[in-house]
Amino acid sequence: MAQRKGPAVWAAFLWPGGHHHGAWRLPGSTGDDIMSFDNYRRMALDCERAKFDVVFLGDRLDAWPLPDEYLARTARGARLETITLTAALAAVTSRIGLVATASTTFSEPFNLARQIGSLDHISGGRIGWNVVTSYTDDQAQNYGLDHIPPRPARYARAQEFLDVVKGLWDTYEDDAVLRDKETGQFFDADRFHKLGHEGSHFKVAGPLNMERPPQGHPVICQAGASKDGIAFAARNGELLFSINSSIERARDYYQAIKTGAADAGRDPDDIKVLASINPVIGRTQDEAEEKYQQMQRLLDDDVSRTFAEMYFGMDLSGYPLDELVPEIELPDASHGMPRAHQEYMLNKARDEKLTMRQLVYGFNGTNIYPKSAEAAADEFQEWYETGAADGFILQISHVPEGVTDFVELVVPILRRRGLIREDYVGTTLRENLGLARPVNRHTTARSVPA
Ligand SMILES: Cc1cc2nc3c(=O)[nH]c(=O)nc-3n(C[C@H](O)[C@H](O)[C@H](O)COP(=O)(O)O)c2cc1C
Repeated sequence: MAQRKGPAVWAAFLWPGGHHHGAWRLPGSTGDDIMSFDNYRRMALDCERAKFDVVFLGDRLDAWPLPDEYLARTARGARLETITLTAALAAVTSRIGLVATASTTFSEPFNLARQIGSLDHISGGRIGWNVVTSYTDDQAQNYGLDHIPPRPARYARAQEFLDVVKGLWDTYEDDAVLRDKETGQFFDADRFHKLGHEGSHFKVAGPLNMERPPQGHPVICQAGASKDGIAFAARNGELLFSINSSIERARDYYQAIKTGAADAGRDPDDIKVLASINPVIGRTQDEAEEKYQQMQRLLDDDVSRTFAEMYFGMDLSGYPLDELVPEIELPDASHGMPRAHQEYMLNKARDEKLTMRQLVYGFNGTNIYPKSAEAAADEFQEWYETGAADGFILQISHVPEGVTDFVELVVPILRRRGLIREDYVGTTLRENLGLARPVNRHTTARSVPA
């Protein structure tokens, strides 16, 4: 396989208290105040100094579907809403991209077009929108429903939602605003367009009450992993987050996305696929292992088991803990994690011959691994250069320490190897990712002779 060169795309996924369920209990962790904006500010600035492309902020429309008794022993039940948080981060950073999560199942296109568009203006064009469809009943129950709609229905709504949002962002053509103080003409009415959308899910008249976002359309981010999700991602996504248990599986996913994009008439280079990885970094392998074990010792057994049961949507108590993970028939549970996450965990258990105990207590639902800085850099390089990913989304296990460890220990190695940029090349997220700015649909129509 051709070895590619040049910088990869780097994103830091910050979760309050850290991705590892025990990490909030570490001394000096953000667990001391998970609602603190200052924690996010400092971590985002560390990532910006390292020249990361993106700070990614995940979100859900629930506390987390664990029984209260167990949720109360985690730092997962509370967090800042990400659009609001992104606005605040936009004001204190200047170059790094910021990705906010918002659900198409439980919002309205007019609302999100305004909110994400405003963020793009406020940040000077540094915004991505992580388009999610939400996947659990407890989130639906905050929005007047008893159950989450089936996945095909969610993705059908998501497609129309996104089409409407992009249409609204194209309300003003780029040269529509004249601001001519002499003539008194503020904008050119011929370059100002109402949407007039009537579809299966939405009826939106427009126009959007906002000039076009600096990036034209903020970057569309997505993590589809099901058949419907991959089709949606291949058609619409620009920055994708993937979860794969091995380099081989990651390469297959990468190919599926790039082929799907070509089939949808897109240039595969217009989609950047990031592999999600949870690094726990040390100067040496022993130091990394020790950090990891320190977090593992802080895990609560009942919480770990309940989390694993929530991920799988089933009772796991019948499985002997010290035997290899058997073939598990997954129920079609709408309170579990997406099937892709479940398969990821089961594939990993199969590939690495894990016991039930390692699955339940070792995983934390994510790809956590302790590595020396050098070994981590080797692995990133192999994944990147052999076509398993265009870059990485680092699900930071313990914060803020995991961010500083990565920036101080791994980034210098990556930089020496040319895998992370020396400096930002542009002012917008699109420019830094090498993604073209979409031409306004009305301008395109105007330039095509009738
Ligand atoms: C790195 C990463 C971050 C994600 N962040 C969120 C999130 O913040 N909120 C959310 O509801 N889903 C999130 N997801 C889940 C995806 O949106 C998606 O539902 C999942 O990957 C399964 O795909 P499917 O919807 O096609 O089944 C994330 C997935 C990955 C891999």
